[in-house]
Amino acid sequence: MPNKLIANKTANKTAKSQPVFIQRYIENKDEVRAELQQGLLARAATTMPKYLYDALGSRLFEAITELPEYYPTRVEASIFEQFLPEMAAVAGLGHTLIDLGAGNCEKAARMFETLRPAKYVAVDISVDFLKQALTTLQRQSPDFPMLGLGMDFSASLDLPSEIGTGSRLFFYPGSSIGNFTPADALLFLRQIHIACKQGAGQGGLLIGVDLVKSSTVLQAAYDDALGVTAAFNRNMLLHINQLLGSDFNIAQWQHRALFNTKLSRIEMHLDATEELTVRWDGGERKFAKNEGIHTENSYKYTVESFSQLLKNAGFQDVKPWQDAKQQFCVFWAKA
Ligand code: AVI
Repeated sequence: MPNKLIANKTANKTAKSQPVFIQRYIENKDEVRAELQQGLLARAATTMPKYLYDALGSRLFEAITELPEYYPTRVEASIFEQFLPEMAAVAGLGHTLIDLGAGNCEKAARMFETLRPAKYVAVDISVDFLKQALTTLQRQSPDFPMLGLGMDFSASLDLPSEIGTGSRLFFYPGSSIGNFTPADALLFLRQIHIACKQGAGQGGLLIGVDLVKSSTVLQAAYDDALGVTAAFNRNMLLHINQLLGSDFNIAQWQHRALFNTKLSRIEMHLDATEELTVRWDGGERKFAKNEGIHTENSYKYTVESFSQLLKNAGFQDVKPWQDAKQQFCVFWAKA
């Protein structure tokens, strides 16, 4: 979406102890409305998972990562804690570390000491999310080059020249790759592979992936007893009301999560608890009782199926690290 990519440098590039920030994603309100309407008017209504993350949605997601049922964040952290020196030995030191979906930059910052990157590039849809975290990190290491990049990398991994020419180590933790369809995941991994090759030296990818396991464990992780995931899902309707001017009444919607064994994915839905009509300026959609909106997929892989996906994307020398219960896997893939 090149019309969205408008470079806007907001900090002095040369100053030490000041990260550089570049915002390339500008939200287009008409496109957002068109995308939402199209999904809501489809025979089986859908919305894109990115609309789960307004300010409240992002906080609810943080709360999810602390729930006893939601193991991925904790298990992934334990894998990094146990195997980081091994990962550094395989990946090598001194890369430009490119953190996709960096958020508060905490996960990457934990690796600095061991991976000794030459430069840190934190990528998220908005540099506003990155500013505080990066500025704090920069204060701790004034001479360590840091760049904050605001872009929707899921649409296109079109990196600016400010990234530099050093070898590139991409970091994509949290099993966010599971929120792509396998076909889109392949396209995205191919883009990462190409971007690795654009740097000097031998780059690669460190990526966290959630694994297939018992439906009971998976379902509980996406339908917790406290109802935080339900709130996260239902909050999307409040966000859509703001974006589209619609009149969703969240009291009429119920969260549902299921593991679709055939497609190897958790599905999240919102189901109408009664017959109702949702209206917005220029459109409306009738829902029968129990009719749903499909709001998110979270694909689960086996070590073999994800290794194959990495190889199909052009990577070689794939190395997996798992926890003892084989719930989650971190892969190194050499470009
Ligand atoms: C961000 N993503 C990897 C989470 C997941 O597990 O698919 C989003 C999430 N949805 C419900 N709970 C967590």
